[in-house]
Amino acid sequence: FSLFELLLLAEMLLFVLVLSATVLGCTTQVCPCESQELCQQIRDERDFEVFVFDVGGKTWKSYNWSMVTTVATFGKYDAELMCYAHSKGARVVLKGDVPLSDIVDQDNRTTWITEKVSLAKSQFMDGINIDIEQAVEADSPQYHALTALVRETTEAFHREIPGSQVSFDVAWSPNCIDKRCYNYVAIAESCDLLFVMSYDEQSQIMGDCIAMANAPVAQTLNGYLQYLELKIEPRKLVMGVPWYGYDYPCLNLSQEGVCSIPKVPFRGAPCSDAAGKQKPYSWIMKKVNDSMSGRIWDEQQQAPYFNYKDQTGQIHQVWYDDPDSICAKAGLVKSKGLRGIGMWNGNILDYSDDPVAQQQTAMMWNALVGC
Ligand SMILES: *[C@@H]1O[C@H](CO)[C@@H](O)[C@H](O)[C@H]1NC(C)=O
Ligand SMILES: *[C@@H]1O[C@H](CO)[C@@H](O)[C@H](O)[C@H]1NC(C)=O
Ligand SMILES: *[C@@H]1O[C@H](CO)[C@@H](O)[C@H](O)[C@H]1NC(C)=O
Ligand SMILES: *[C@@H]1O[C@H](CO)[C@@H](O)[C@H](O)[C@H]1NC(C)=O
Repeated sequence: FSLFELLLLAEMLLFVLVLSATVLGCTTQVCPCESQELCQQIRDERDFEVFVFDVGGKTWKSYNWSMVTTVATFGKYDAELMCYAHSKGARVVLKGDVPLSDIVDQDNRTTWITEKVSLAKSQFMDGINIDIEQAVEADSPQYHALTALVRETTEAFHREIPGSQVSFDVAWSPNCIDKRCYNYVAIAESCDLLFVMSYDEQSQIMGDCIAMANAPVAQTLNGYLQYLELKIEPRKLVMGVPWYGYDYPCLNLSQEGVCSIPKVPFRGAPCSDAAGKQKPYSWIMKKVNDSMSGRIWDEQQQAPYFNYKDQTGQIHQVWYDDPDSICAKAGLVKSKGLRGIGMWNGNILDYSDDPVAQQQTAMMWNALVGC
């Protein structure tokens, strides 16, 4: 080699080195936490699960972190939340949703799973919550694809992120609610836990079109009995409670306080809770004070409600959950030996520094662990 050729070779080598270093630098994620340790995924299994859905913003700073075990992040990725949750020993999990028709194809399904695992790794997340609320016919290609999706996602996460958690969201009952006829038994077997969405229980009203509780206690209990009848282990079930209620405009309000609601059909039912609007507990607590009726407790449904008149003179009935109704349901978690409890969603309490709000908020958190 001439000196010139050697120099050229050295220069090329250097270029290759610099290039590969840059590429590596881009793919190796830098831990955003103040200490490297906080980027490590959580491996411990806690005895009682408190599963929180977070929809974004910074109110997570006011959660009761001595309870929280898992936060499913349905808002934008927030590295600060990840670091903080890890400092409290809590998991942070991704949201997973995909049109089922796209993942009937095995290659597409594998691609989706690979992307989620690599996203979770790059964001130092501890698993994924699969939230597919699509209508599925039993034994259809989508039905089998969904079962395979949950199994393959769990395998990939457990292999790539040891100790990670894969959960799946199910309706309040396995009985084809909202036409979601899934293979609940196989899905429960292949993932770590089912988050049972014990709310929106009036999504298909078959009887009188009237305002009712979002999650009546007896109906909620019945849903768990149905899951347990399928021989799904109680330790696989996390009870989801609503931190929101429904505000229904009444077509008329009977003497007995029954509120007839407009007919809004949903997935085969003539009436549904879609006739109402979902309202956060923070809004409800302000509204109940200047309502016509004040808080009324319905003995049969074991839920509170109230009536109010809006500015146009229209009467509304609002059904919601409060510490009393949540306590009744939290009692079932204990008596049935379920894995834990959680809510939709963590952000919708009043986290301001108003002392009345602070007290109400603390009571809602504490109701999760019973009375
Ligand atoms: C694969 O998924 C894409 C969307 O990501 C979709 O457009 C396409 O139709 C799917 N292919 C098959 C064979 O299902
Ligand atoms: C209330 O409204 C419903 C639906 O419009 C109607 O069927 C019912 O008779 C009404 N009841 C009373 C007491 O007016
Ligand atoms: C609502 O009324 C109760 C009872 O009178 C009172 O203690 C509470 O401070 C009021 N709440 C709000 C948000 O005004
Ligand atoms: C947070 O939860 C713990 C455990 O249940 C409880 O002891 C504590 O009082 C709660 N904190 C607040 C501020 O309510």
